[in-house]
Amino acid sequence: MCGIVAYIGKQTAYDIIIKGLKRLEYRGYDSAGVALHNSKSLNVYKKKGKVADLETFIDDKDISGSIGIGHTRWATHGPPNDINSHPHQSGNKDFALVHNGIIENYAVLKEELTQRGHQFLSDTDTEVLIHLIEEIYTNSKKSLTLFEAVRIALNEVIGAYAIVVINKNNPNELIAARKSSPLVVGIGEGEFFLASDATPMVEFTKNVVYLEDGEIAHLSLETGLKIKTVANQEKTPYIHELEMHLETLEKGGFDHFMLKEIYEQPQSIHDSMRGRLRSSKSMVSLGGIKDYEEKIVQAKRLIFVACGTSWHAGLVGEYLFEDLARIPVEVEYASEFRYRNPIINEDDVVIAISQSGETADTLAAIKMAKEKGATIVGICNVVGSSISRLTDCGSYTHAGPEIGVASTKAFTAQVTVLTLMALMIGKKKGTITNQRFNRLLVELESIPEKLESVLTLDSVIKKIASTYKDSSNALYLGRGINFPVALEGALKLKEISYIHAEGYPAAEMKHGPIALIDEEMPVFVIATQDTSYEKVVSNIQEVKARKGKVIAIITKGDKDVKEIADHYMEIPLTDSLLVPLLATVPFQLLSYHVAVMRECNVDQPRNLAKSVTVE
Ligand code: M6R
Repeated sequence: MCGIVAYIGKQTAYDIIIKGLKRLEYRGYDSAGVALHNSKSLNVYKKKGKVADLETFIDDKDISGSIGIGHTRWATHGPPNDINSHPHQSGNKDFALVHNGIIENYAVLKEELTQRGHQFLSDTDTEVLIHLIEEIYTNSKKSLTLFEAVRIALNEVIGAYAIVVINKNNPNELIAARKSSPLVVGIGEGEFFLASDATPMVEFTKNVVYLEDGEIAHLSLETGLKIKTVANQEKTPYIHELEMHLETLEKGGFDHFMLKEIYEQPQSIHDSMRGRLRSSKSMVSLGGIKDYEEKIVQAKRLIFVACGTSWHAGLVGEYLFEDLARIPVEVEYASEFRYRNPIINEDDVVIAISQSGETADTLAAIKMAKEKGATIVGICNVVGSSISRLTDCGSYTHAGPEIGVASTKAFTAQVTVLTLMALMIGKKKGTITNQRFNRLLVELESIPEKLESVLTLDSVIKKIASTYKDSSNALYLGRGINFPVALEGALKLKEISYIHAEGYPAAEMKHGPIALIDEEMPVFVIATQDTSYEKVVSNIQEVKARKGKVIAIITKGDKDVKEIADHYMEIPLTDSLLVPLLATVPFQLLSYHVAVMRECNVDQPRNLAKSVTVE
């Protein structure tokens, strides 16, 4: 979390930084700040609140200069206020720094620096680092460059960081470094960009360098880009070409990114399958895992590691892989997995699922699994992200940038890729008949079209949302492969509308949650026609007998549930393994409309950040 943008070149740095910070606001929006060098002075402006609040604050200030750094914060150490906002400055105000991550040993460093006379203004871990850099630089009596001082300071730091440092005495250099938090360098014509992801630089350059863990970069218009490791080894920058389009970063006429992203799903699912699936040729092929296909086929078990919505996709994956490829699957919260001393061996394949590819817990889990010899497969959306670079192999979801904090199209793209993977491995293993394989390919190909018809339910769903928008609680029920859909529906509602919601396997309701049911309680049920249909109908009857309100997702043409449910949303018939791809979407729309009606900030819900880069 926290977003960093920096610029050095010929344009007005402020304009680029502010625009970039707005693109990175999904990473945190507790406060924002900039440090701008106008060749005479280093001006630091920072404010609690969003980037827009910072802009208002800066309105009458000096924003000139073509070098600067900026930050949008998700608070870790110290509450969101002006003082704790970044950039933080050294005691002598010669240096300013922006930081994403956590300096774990900051308390010890702060104590030592305080004893040596340093005075701190903020509660943050970040301020400690810039004081440490200042001390190392000053003590060297200028025998060290600032770059060297930063490098030496970083050797004393334990924790995660992406940082950029600006120097009041040299308006011609920026120093950046990363460890466990992302940082991208953009290389333009006579200009450089730095940012937590590539979105702030996409309209200026397609040439980017993803800094690796433990690397430190010096950016100067005179000497260019130089990279070393913090252990002082020279590195040659590897330039990647960005495949990102500006229009994908804009709302395109929708009121919110979330709504746009919900509506993009027929296309994003199609993109996830593009070139990978051809039913007419009985073909499924994921090029990114081809070299490891045999390893997966031979795996004694698969372990999915992920967080939040991506963990829900992993649960769907469990049903898919166990059914189609007959490989035992465990689905782990990445955050729990690594602290459990799990038993992992070389026959295990760990599949890490992450939209951002930067989630700290997921990264830490795969590092541990890698050390224990497991093969690591990635399913990421963000190209070039840390997780995608750490894995042995993997498949991108190709859903395009997801900007709304609530994950929508990334989830359905993850499920699509998991389906393709399970089919590919099942076919190779011979655990799926040709007939079923071909039927599923045809069905999967038809999902984007069926999803278009699901999206036409929008006005029906809006009405349902207006009926339940003032609820304090909600229950989501599903069975089998639709249980994770219930979990995902509940997560969507709670994270953007702040209504308490829980997802349960429908049959578990009678073991506790049924006590909550009264005439106030909306119960959302996935009651599509598959093997557990009859049982789900019984569960609905149990809710109705206690005067609960039932809102059901049903298969088009269903009569029984239609009669007993208070409201229903009809989705097209598909294979039961593919229902999650359709059934998730009405719940996304419902949460969206409820949140809008409750006047919540849909794209930037309180306390959340899209990319959770702290453990
Ligand atoms: O980028 P990741 O997929 O690794 O992120 C995992 C979770 O933080 C994320 O899915 C989160 O739960 C979303 N806010 C859900 O909408």
